[in-house]
Amino acid sequence: MATFTSFKARNGIVERCISDDQTRLRLKYNPYYLPFDRQVGSHVWLDGKELIMLSSNDYLGLSDHPKVIEAGKKALEEWGSGTTGSRFANGSRYFHEKLESDLASFLGKEACHVSVAGYISCMSSIESFARKGDLIIVDRNVHSSLWAGIANTGARLERFGHNNIESLKEVLGQESPEITKMLVVEGVFSMEGHIANLPDYLTVIQNQNCFIVVDDAHGFGVLGKQGRGTVDYFGVTDQVDIIAGSMSKSMASTGGFVAGSTEIIEYLRTHSKQTVFSAALSPCQTACAQAALDVIKEEPEHLQHLWDNTRYYHKLLLDLGLDIWESKTPATPIVLGKIESAYYFWKKLMKKGVFTNIIPPPAVSPNKILIRTAISARHSKEDLEKIGEAMKFAAKGL
Ligand SMILES: Cc1ncc(COP(=O)(O)O)c(C=O)c1O
Repeated sequence: MATFTSFKARNGIVERCISDDQTRLRLKYNPYYLPFDRQVGSHVWLDGKELIMLSSNDYLGLSDHPKVIEAGKKALEEWGSGTTGSRFANGSRYFHEKLESDLASFLGKEACHVSVAGYISCMSSIESFARKGDLIIVDRNVHSSLWAGIANTGARLERFGHNNIESLKEVLGQESPEITKMLVVEGVFSMEGHIANLPDYLTVIQNQNCFIVVDDAHGFGVLGKQGRGTVDYFGVTDQVDIIAGSMSKSMASTGGFVAGSTEIIEYLRTHSKQTVFSAALSPCQTACAQAALDVIKEEPEHLQHLWDNTRYYHKLLLDLGLDIWESKTPATPIVLGKIESAYYFWKKLMKKGVFTNIIPPPAVSPNKILIRTAISARHSKEDLEKIGEAMKFAAKGL
């Protein structure tokens, strides 16, 4: 565990680090940065104790799929560890372009650009396009990567209520239809598990000069035909300008993608600072993502299993009277409201061998402090039964 240095603070920033209450509390209760000593499928070990992993985003359970492992090993041997340069300069390889072209056709878009992280891709999907004088309209609950992109644009910002079409209408009612706009939403919201009602948004935003960005980090691999995502699920691929996402969830690798028309993606390749000034995705991670995408297309049983598990799990939690915030997807919150309750619940789950995450503000509003859980196709029937027992135990004292 990290400890604070005892030397005298030499400046205001060191002082701020030493006296930060949030860091003190994190280190005192220690529910984060836990270094597992081993992992097999959906199980991890902490100080030798076996735990069921219930907060990973490995929705399809592909992180130890033999084809994914084999592809990673082969790429490492053939290409070495990294490309040591940006795509713009010396870092582009044929395998990046192959993955991009396969992802683009899977998503129903003309083109795609991959980067080293979903965070980077989502950030650049906004920052590369919006500028001063534009208006960005955003669901107030979107992910930090999207806020980071918004902050760098200089555009005017209007938030609307989470998943609230009336609130979006209200915002639009105050604006001229001509002004250049960007709408930013998540397809599946990472904390809440809610699905954005894209058809309603698209109806309201018609003729509003609006560029639509959907971050589908948690919808990709989960919703739509073969797991093509939220936009495919609603059949609105042609009406959405950008589908951005992460390869660290259903694709069980690391990295991110931005998909859109050829013109839009080529513009991003010219203007995205995250692309021009940052090294390319490594051969190994690209190969793992490529293999995972191939598995997603060829082995539908993982998606089927994910949804069987999700239905079982949601029923189990609802039967215990737990508040899952009307999650409709494998990303499943258990809303506890107060940090003390969340910590108590988390500890009891740990005691029974189930690992989850406490989500405090600012990731959620103070009255929605929750335990974030996520179900995977990799969870076995036995895992689900154990999870059920642990939930019953944790829910008892609430
Ligand atoms: C909605 C959303 N967008 C983007 C990201 C960033 O993805 P990555 O972990 O690949 O950087 C995340 C990750 O948690 C996410 O939940």
